[in-house]
Amino acid sequence: MSVLTSPIDILVLGGGGREHALCWKLRQSPLTGRLLCAPGNAGIAAVADCVDLAITDPAAVTAFALNHGIGLVVVGPEDPLVAGVVDALRTAGVPAFGPSAAAAQLEGSKGFTKDLCRAAGIPTAGYRRFASAADAHHYVAVHPLPVVVKADGLAAGKGVTVADSNEEGLAALADIHGAVVIEEALSGPEASLFVLTDGKTVSVWPSAQDHKRAFDGDTGPNTGGMGVISPAPRLTPALKARALTEIIEPTLAAMAAAGTPYTGVLYAGLMLTADGPKLIEYNCRFGDPEAQALMLRLDGDLTDILFACATGRLAEVAVDWSPETAVTIVYASMGYPLKPITGTIVDNVEAAEALGVQVFHAGTKRRADGALVAAGGRVLAISALGHDISEARALAYAAIRKIRWHGGFFRRDIGKA
Ligand code: AMP
Ligand code: GLY
Repeated sequence: MSVLTSPIDILVLGGGGREHALCWKLRQSPLTGRLLCAPGNAGIAAVADCVDLAITDPAAVTAFALNHGIGLVVVGPEDPLVAGVVDALRTAGVPAFGPSAAAAQLEGSKGFTKDLCRAAGIPTAGYRRFASAADAHHYVAVHPLPVVVKADGLAAGKGVTVADSNEEGLAALADIHGAVVIEEALSGPEASLFVLTDGKTVSVWPSAQDHKRAFDGDTGPNTGGMGVISPAPRLTPALKARALTEIIEPTLAAMAAAGTPYTGVLYAGLMLTADGPKLIEYNCRFGDPEAQALMLRLDGDLTDILFACATGRLAEVAVDWSPETAVTIVYASMGYPLKPITGTIVDNVEAAEALGVQVFHAGTKRRADGALVAAGGRVLAISALGHDISEARALAYAAIRKIRWHGGFFRRDIGKA
């Protein structure tokens, strides 16, 4: 059964590995007509037409969608959501997958989410909000350790410091412009949980476990994510059920009660503490590289699912999942995340794909002579399925080793027990 009865033209916003995975899956649907992606990348260009568009400008995106007869806009990253792109599209009558600007505050303001959790009794770390870094200075100077210092607003994954000394906390504070949230530190394994909702129906998606630090053994600087396994082995069915009833459901209820119902994908970053799952943060979009693992496991029709979610008909679509495990390994430019060195040639990607994995592109460009070159921090995400983690990781690592790239590095312990 499908909600759509004939193909629609789709515009995807974004140009990372997450958007390549979404475009790859959308392209497989017989319900996808033209597929456009702004800005896209060299990998996305193989499945979609890449276009130039100011993706955080609601008026520009809406005008483009109307001019091109777009039947669905799928927003990849958070910035267009927080900027109100979905609101403008909806006002113009264009179905859009993602939350309104008001609902995207769940990612756009950490203080907003903490206040919501407090009011609804949702388990999360204790916290205090401050209007500026200067106001938080004394509190951080005397806070018991470790102390967690966060920028309130969007910070492209760079706004969080878990400080082991008060001096480190103050140094992190000095880098923040604008409002601040200070939290107590939680400990335990982390897991990410995804749900899709149209404001009425909730579709529970598989979990994933990211590897955020740059180097093996969870060392080095924090990154956007160096690799993922799905499902997250530590999030047992019982813990997943608790996270749904204690965290996700009350959040969605509070958003609806406030007159700003949440729609789109809600990504909960959880810490599995001795007292049960606690919310670390929400994201109002798919994760990157989590999406690269999830799309490999999705057996349903992504075009129909996202259209149904965007038009309030999520209850009418089937969302099925492969029982297999997915492992995704990110291949990043040397120097990532601090100062990635770009422009180096990436070769032999086809040999990796020939082993039966998907190689999703993030920061890649095609040079005039046809060579594939690194054009960003995270460059490729190699995604493999297997009957269990060890089978999937063996395949993913065999494939990544086929790629010839002197300017890149990857973690060797993604999914290692
Ligand atoms: P974020 O950028 O919000 O995803 O946070 C980055 C990482 O900081 C998380 O994945 C956690 O590992 C860590 N973190 C954030 N908040 C806390 C907290 N309250 N206690 C301990 N670790 C935290
Ligand atoms: N991989 C973490 C994120 O997308 O936020």
